[in-house]
Amino acid sequence: MKTIKDIAIAGKRLLIRVDFNVPLDKQQRITDDSRIQAVLPTLKYALGQKAKIIVASHLGRPKGKVAPEFSLKPAAERLSVLLNLPVQLAADCVGESVEAMVAAMKPGDIVVLENLRFHPDEEKNADAFAKSLAGLCDVYVNDAFAVSHRANASVEAITRFAPLSVAGFLLKNEIDYFDKAMTNPERPLVAVIGGAKVSSKLAALENMLLHVDKIIIGGAMANTFLRAMGHSTGKSLVETELIETAGSILKKASEKGVRIYLPVDGITACQVEPTAASAVFPVQEIPGDQMILNIGPATSLLYAEALQEGNF
Ligand code: 3PG
Repeated sequence: MKTIKDIAIAGKRLLIRVDFNVPLDKQQRITDDSRIQAVLPTLKYALGQKAKIIVASHLGRPKGKVAPEFSLKPAAERLSVLLNLPVQLAADCVGESVEAMVAAMKPGDIVVLENLRFHPDEEKNADAFAKSLAGLCDVYVNDAFAVSHRANASVEAITRFAPLSVAGFLLKNEIDYFDKAMTNPERPLVAVIGGAKVSSKLAALENMLLHVDKIIIGGAMANTFLRAMGHSTGKSLVETELIETAGSILKKASEKGVRIYLPVDGITACQVEPTAASAVFPVQEIPGDQMILNIGPATSLLYAEALQEGNF
C-alpha cells in the first residue's frame, strides 16, 4: 500500500478523505474533536510539502439532502484553530463554484468541501459523482479508516478515477496495528469493542471469533447483546433487528471457546442531557424509563479483571 510519503506531492492538488463525523451539541458546537486531531499528521505533512489540500468528509446521515445542521462548518473552523491557518469552507463538494475555488488554490492552501452526504450519489457509490470529486485532484488520499468499510463514492469509486490513490498516515497506522494484532499476536488476545452499532461491526465481530480469546463489549452495542440475553433495556439504544444476530454471535463464541464479556450494570438516565440525574442499575433491573449510557462500576471492575495479565 503506497502512502502519501511514497510520492511527490509538492504543488499537487490532494483530495484527502477524512472522517470529520464529529459529535455536535444542539448549538452545533463540537463536543469531541479527536477525529480532527487524528488527521493532523497527514495534513501537516502535506502542508510541509506545499501541496494544495482539499479535505473531504461526511458528517452525520443527512440522507442525500442539504441540511444545515450537518454542515462541516464547525469542523472547518476547528481545523483552522488546530492548524493555526486559514481554512476555507466550500459551499458544496462538487460543481463549478468548487472547481473555481480549487483552481484558485496556491500551494499550502486548505479547502474543506461541504458534506459529501448532501449528495445521494455519495452513498450510492455513483461513478459520475466520484468522477467529479476525482476531477478536483491530482492525488486521492484516504485517511478515513472509520469510513473505509463503506462503498461510498469518496472512498471506493473515486479510486477508479483519481490519477493516483494513496493512504494517509492514520489509515496506514490503523492497518499496521491490525496487521500486528492479527498475525502471530501475543496471547491472550482480547478485543475491546464499543460504539453504537452492532450492524457496522458485524463482519468484524464474526471474523474476530476466529482470532481472539476474549471479546469485551461496551458502548450502546452492548445493549443489543443484553437484549439477546433476555434483559430489558428500558429506553436504551438497541438495534432491535439485530437482537437475533447478537444471540447467534454469543452462541458461536461459546462454541469456539471465545469468552464474551458484557456489562453487568449500567449508568443510566432518563435522557441524554447533562442535567439529567444519573443512576446505576444491574442489567437485570433497568427501569423502563431509563436508558443505559455507560457501563457501571461493577462492569468496570469486571473488565479490568478480564484484562489482567494472566487472567485467561
Ligand atoms: C462513523 O462514525 O462510524 C463513521 O464516520 C461512519 O459513519 P456512518 O456509520 O454514518 O457511515
